[in-house]
Amino acid sequence: MLIFVDTAKLSEIREAVGWGIIDGVTTNPTLLRAAIEEEGSRSLDAHVREICRLAGRGRPVSLEVMSNDSKSMTEEAKILYKKFNPVAKNVVIKIPVNPSMGEGGECGGLETIAALRRAGIRTNATLVMTPEQALLAAKAGATYVSPFAGRVDDFIRANLGIPFGKYDYFDFSLVSEVARGKLSKYLGEWNGEISGAYGDGEIKKLLDPGGNEGVRSGVELVRKIVQIFRTYHIKTKIIASSLRHPRQVREVAEAGADVATVPISVIRKMLEHPKTKEGVRKFWEDAVKAKYEELFKLKL
Ligand code: E4P
Repeated sequence: MLIFVDTAKLSEIREAVGWGIIDGVTTNPTLLRAAIEEEGSRSLDAHVREICRLAGRGRPVSLEVMSNDSKSMTEEAKILYKKFNPVAKNVVIKIPVNPSMGEGGECGGLETIAALRRAGIRTNATLVMTPEQALLAAKAGATYVSPFAGRVDDFIRANLGIPFGKYDYFDFSLVSEVARGKLSKYLGEWNGEISGAYGDGEIKKLLDPGGNEGVRSGVELVRKIVQIFRTYHIKTKIIASSLRHPRQVREVAEAGADVATVPISVIRKMLEHPKTKEGVRKFWEDAVKAKYEELFKLKL
């Protein structure tokens, strides 16, 4: 699985690239705003150019459009591509899979992706929250789809009334187990007709406990998209996005995501374990006691 860093901060991209584990960068308007506020670059243009340069050739950089209709999004995409792709030939344009804010134009994202495909510009269909959206984006010709696992988890947890912080990990298998247990108890006491069972509100709720059309977590969303794409040999790559915890990164890797885009704080947490820290301390103490420095006496 490839790892992209999910940030627009130059310091973070520079650092993560230096660690030798970064295969690309994803940005969005919120991340760019945070980067400019913190790093105070001379201009947005100069900042984005520097992102592309730091990522370098072969590491895709996703840049997002801001309009909502297909004509303007296609134009913005072509401008972004013309301005920034020459820097390191790594620009990918992020297009919301459904850019509508409620006033029609739901399919403008697909139309834009198709137009950019014809123009030879790589796209990343963003804000993907369902397997159906991913399938349509892939059919339209998206190079990447970005299922937002963390935001789907937020949606399900809010539906279930579970209090949570942005970076909390929550094991959704617990919800399924509890629902299964409750369902079998309820059905054990059920004395109505089988044909009537599906109309029973309680049963319906227990069959889909998160109220998310049968997708029970953000990781499950990624898993379902992987399954569909593999079944139909779809070439579009899956970028598991909106990841906020190391266990989610592990789970999307197990699910077969092509890429995980990860904030730098989560990458750091992926390296942590108390026994690693304890081991380092013990080895260091024993090295001091054994006068280990003797081993390193050589002029390079
Ligand atoms: C990915 O492309 C997005 O930029 C990002 O993962 C969104 O993450 P968030 O839901 O934590 O804001």
